[in-house]
Parts: sequence; structure tokens; C-alpha cells
Amino acid sequence: MAAFGSVFMPEMALARFDGSSWSEGALVSADSISLHPGAHVLHYASTCFEGLKAFRHEDGSIAIFRMDKNIARMQQSSKLLSLPEFDADLLKQMIIDVVKHYAADVPTPPGSMYIRPTHIGTEPAIGKAANPTTTSMLYVLLSPVGDYFAGGSRGLRLLMEDNARCAPHMGMIKSGGNYASALHPTLQARAQYQADQVLFCPNGDVQETGAANFLLIDGNEIITKALDASFLHGVTRETILTLARDLGMTVSERELTVAELLERAAKPGTEAALSGTAAVLAPVGTLIHQGKEYKVGSGEPGATTAKLRQALNDIQWGKAADTHGWLTHI
Ligand code: COI
Repeated sequence: MAAFGSVFMPEMALARFDGSSWSEGALVSADSISLHPGAHVLHYASTCFEGLKAFRHEDGSIAIFRMDKNIARMQQSSKLLSLPEFDADLLKQMIIDVVKHYAADVPTPPGSMYIRPTHIGTEPAIGKAANPTTTSMLYVLLSPVGDYFAGGSRGLRLLMEDNARCAPHMGMIKSGGNYASALHPTLQARAQYQADQVLFCPNGDVQETGAANFLLIDGNEIITKALDASFLHGVTRETILTLARDLGMTVSERELTVAELLERAAKPGTEAALSGTAAVLAPVGTLIHQGKEYKVGSGEPGATTAKLRQALNDIQWGKAADTHGWLTHI
């Protein structure tokens, strides 16, 4: 299987903002885009993106999961990055058009079609370090995918670090820069500890990893950091918390310290997981803190994580009722 996100459909949906209005979305080749080397995005990182998925149901129909929520987050990211605003309906139509175009290529479960809306500042303007781009481009790439974390359902290894993933006021923005800033620590963690991800815990506050949100599952309780500007407001995080409530679990959105996490992880039944569009709900087996390894519960993927993941997949795959109205059938 090709690496996650390395195969693309040949065409994408694209719209441009010319400084005063948006063009309509159109399907164009996804091979390349033409940008001036002085484009705002290439110098001042005026870019944000989204990640959502389309699923094939048993009857052959295609459904997109939580499209409206992802579009709303992208509008917010664009606003906070001073990129031109766009109508939700523009992006919605672009996503539907391109997914419909490639409906026959949407994989059967457990695969899916990953949808990557991207917004970039295109104005050639290297003098505008403190001013926004006036022009931009919005495009929607498609990539058929399987698992993000290779190795199936093994427990992931997380290196806990005292640093932040990104600047504290930037965390809720799904910006390219935040992923770039997590890269170096993640590579070091991989080389030194064979860690899959870094769990960023600035000042002992358990936040998130470079690629996904972090959830602790202790018996009937699921604990995760309460929303603030410092970390990504994951759509999958919110989905899992809703499903957990549906299953009668207690959801605690609050501060979780490193000390409390390690104490709870030591209990036999404790589980931890990473949530995200790409990660889905991936079990965490080991935490590495100050050079010492701590198993989370048994260190093996846990039953509650599997149950929540299944509940999510069942809705996405059309096997359970979509009681929250999360699917857009196209
Ligand atoms: C996603 O989960 O959709 C993301 O954007 C995370 C990325 C590391 C693939």
C-alpha cells in the first residue's frame, strides 16, 4: 500500500480570489500550480488546510463525513491567518464536485478518500510581512488512503516533551506552519526513542501531538484538554467525545497534567488514544518521559478505544444510523 497521502487523483477543484471576488470552482489538473516565487505563502506562510474523508457504503453510495464542521474550521483558520474570506457554499460545492467526479475511485472500507482543501496567499508581495495577501487560491485535492499510522493496531509510542507544538495563539489554526514546527522534535523523537509522535506538554500541560489530539480513557471516563487557542479543535476529537457520551461515558474536558497522566496510565485498565481524520482513533501503548518508558495500562490496544473507533467507523461506513447528521450523501 502506498504511503498515506502520496497518491492523488489527477484533477482537483480550484477557485481564485483576485482581490475583490472569488471565481467559481472548476476542475483542473492536480499536477501543478503556477505561483510567483514571491508569493505571500512562500515567504510568510499564509496557508491553512483541512482534512476530511469520503466513504463508500455497501450500496455503493458515497458519503462525506462532517464536511460542514471542517469547512467552518477552515473559514476560521483563514480569518485568523488574514487570508481572504470565502463562502462556506463555495468550498462545499468544490468538495462535492470533485468527490462526485471521482466517486468510482473512493475505496471500500477500511479505505477512504481523503479530502484536502488548501488555501494559500498568492500575491507576489515580499514587502508584505506585516500585511495580508490580497489574492489567494483555494483548492481541493483528493487522495485515496488507508491507515495513517503504519503497523495496524499496535500501541503507539509517544515522547512527552515540555515544549509547545507551536506558538500558543496559533494552535487552533490548521496552518502549515504548525506542522512544520512539530517536525524537528518529531524526527528527533523517532531517531532517539523510536517514538511515533511527540506529545507536547508545555509547563506540564498535556496538549496534543504533532498530527492528532490526545485522549486518556480511564474506566468509564474520557479525559482531554478543554478547548483553548493553544491546540487544534479536532473534528474527530469532538466526534469521539459525542460518541463517548452516547455510550454513557463521562467526558471530562479539563486540564490534564503530566503527573496525573503518568499516575493514571500506571493503572491496569487505562487506555490512551490519538484522534484525527488521518489517525481516526489510534491506540497509544507507551509514554516516554524524561528518558523513562511508561506503559499505558497493559501497553496493548484497549477495548474501549476499539469500541469507540468501531462506533465512529460504523457511522462513516453507513453501518449505523447517522443520528447526529454527520454525513453528506452525494
Ligand atoms: C488530518 O488528520 O487530517 C491531518 O491533517 C493530520 C495530518 C498529519 C495528516
